[in-house]
Amino acid sequence: MPEEHRLKQSLSWPHLVALGVGAIVGTGILTLIGVGAGKAGPAVILSFAIAGLICACAALAYAEVATMIPASGSAYTYSYVVFGELLAWMVGVALILEYTLVVSAVAVGWSGYAAGFLNSVGMGLPDALVKGPELGGIVNVPAIFIIVVVAGLLIAGTRESATLNAILVVIKMLALALFIAVALPVFNAAHFEPFMPYGFPRSGPSGSEVGVMAAAAIIFFAFYGFDAIATAAEEAKNPSRDLAIGIVGSMLVCVVIYMVVAAAAIGAVAYTGFADSPEPLALILREIGQPWAARVLGASAVIALPTVILAFFYGQSRIFFTVARDGLLPSRLARVSGRGTPVRITIFTAIVTSVFAGLIPLTSIAALANAGTLAAFVAVCAAMLVMRVREPGRERRFRTPLPWLVGTVGILGCLYLFISLPNRTQLFFVTAQAIGIVLYFIYGHGAAARSRATAAGA
Ligand code: ALA
Repeated sequence: MPEEHRLKQSLSWPHLVALGVGAIVGTGILTLIGVGAGKAGPAVILSFAIAGLICACAALAYAEVATMIPASGSAYTYSYVVFGELLAWMVGVALILEYTLVVSAVAVGWSGYAAGFLNSVGMGLPDALVKGPELGGIVNVPAIFIIVVVAGLLIAGTRESATLNAILVVIKMLALALFIAVALPVFNAAHFEPFMPYGFPRSGPSGSEVGVMAAAAIIFFAFYGFDAIATAAEEAKNPSRDLAIGIVGSMLVCVVIYMVVAAAAIGAVAYTGFADSPEPLALILREIGQPWAARVLGASAVIALPTVILAFFYGQSRIFFTVARDGLLPSRLARVSGRGTPVRITIFTAIVTSVFAGLIPLTSIAALANAGTLAAFVAVCAAMLVMRVREPGRERRFRTPLPWLVGTVGILGCLYLFISLPNRTQLFFVTAQAIGIVLYFIYGHGAAARSRATAAGA
C-alpha cells in the first residue's frame, strides 16, 4: 500500500474507550430524551431498554467482526469482505448517511444547549439564527460554527484530538452525574402514572407516530457510536484486544447511565414539562429550582458535546477514505496529509454536514441517521453469522456469546426499529439507496475494477 494512503498507528485502548464513550453519550441522552418522552410518556424508559438491548447485540457482533477484520471503514469493510462489492457499496451509503447526519444532529443538539446557556447569562442570540426554516428560523448558526471548529481540530492531527477528547469525556460524565445527584432527591413516583399513555407500537396508518417503539426508534440514536471505534481500527496499536475492550466496554457503561438519567428526569418533572425542548435536561434543572445546576450542565454540554461530533467526523472521513481507496469514490479524496489526516475529505464532510445542521430540524436528521445505522447493524450481525458458517475455524480474538441468539435478535430488532421510524424517513432512506445503486452502476463499478487492475499491475 502506498505510504500516502496509510493511516498512522497511534491509538491504544484507553483512547478507544474514551473515543467510544465520547461518541455514544451525546445528543441522544441530552436532547432526544425529550422527543422520546413526547412519543412514549414515562415508558420512554422502556424505549431506552429496548433500543439499548438491540444495540448491545449489534455491539457484540461488531466486536467479533471488527477483531477478525481490523480495517478502517467498519461495516463497509466487513460487508466488502463477506458479501462483495455491491452490498458493501449499499452499506457504505448507509454509513455515510449515518455519520454525516450524526455530525449534523449533534451539532444541532449542541446549538440547543449553547443557545440556552447564552440566554441564561443574558447573551441570547436572535431566535431566527438558532433554528432552520422548518421551525420558523433562518439558519442554525451555532450548529455550523461547532462543525467548523471540530473540522479544524481533526485537520490539526488525530492524536492530539483523541487526547483532548478523553478530557472532554470526563466533563460530560461529571455533568450527567450532577444531573442525577440534583434530580433524584425530588423524585416523584406519581410522574410515572400512566406509564404508557401512547401504547406500545406506533399508531395506525392515520396517526402521528407515537408509542414505545416509535420512541425507541428515535432514542436508538443515543446508543450508537461504538462503531466509530471500529472505524479507527487501522490506527489502533493492538487492534484485536483494543477494539473488543473499546466497543463492549463503552456500550455497557452507557446503557446503565441512560436508564438512571431517564428515571431521574421523569421522576423530577412530569414528561409533558420537557418533551420536545431543545435542552430538556437543563430545563428540568431550572424547573426544580436549581438554575445554577442548569448552567453547569449547559456549559458542560457545550464544552463536551463536540467529542461526539469529533468521533463521528473522524469515522466519516475514514469511511470516505476507505471507500475511495477501494476505487468506489475518486481516489484523490483518499490522499492523506503529512500529519496522517485525510484533509480533503474532512473539508468536504464539514461543508455537507453544515448544510444539514444549518437548515433541518433535529428530529428529522436523527431519524434518518438512525435508518442508516440500523441498515449497517443488520449487515454487521449478518456478517458475523455468515463468517461463523463460512469460516468456523478462523481465529477470533473476541467471540460473541450465544452468537445465533445475539445475531438474530440484532437483525430482527434493527428491522423492527426501522419499521417504527417515521414513514418519511423510510422513504428518504430507500431513495438514497436507489440513487446509490444507480451511481454504483454508472460510476463505482467500473472505477473499482480499474483501481484493482492498477493495483495488480503496480
Ligand atoms: N449516541 C450519540 C449521541 O447520542 C450519537 O449523540
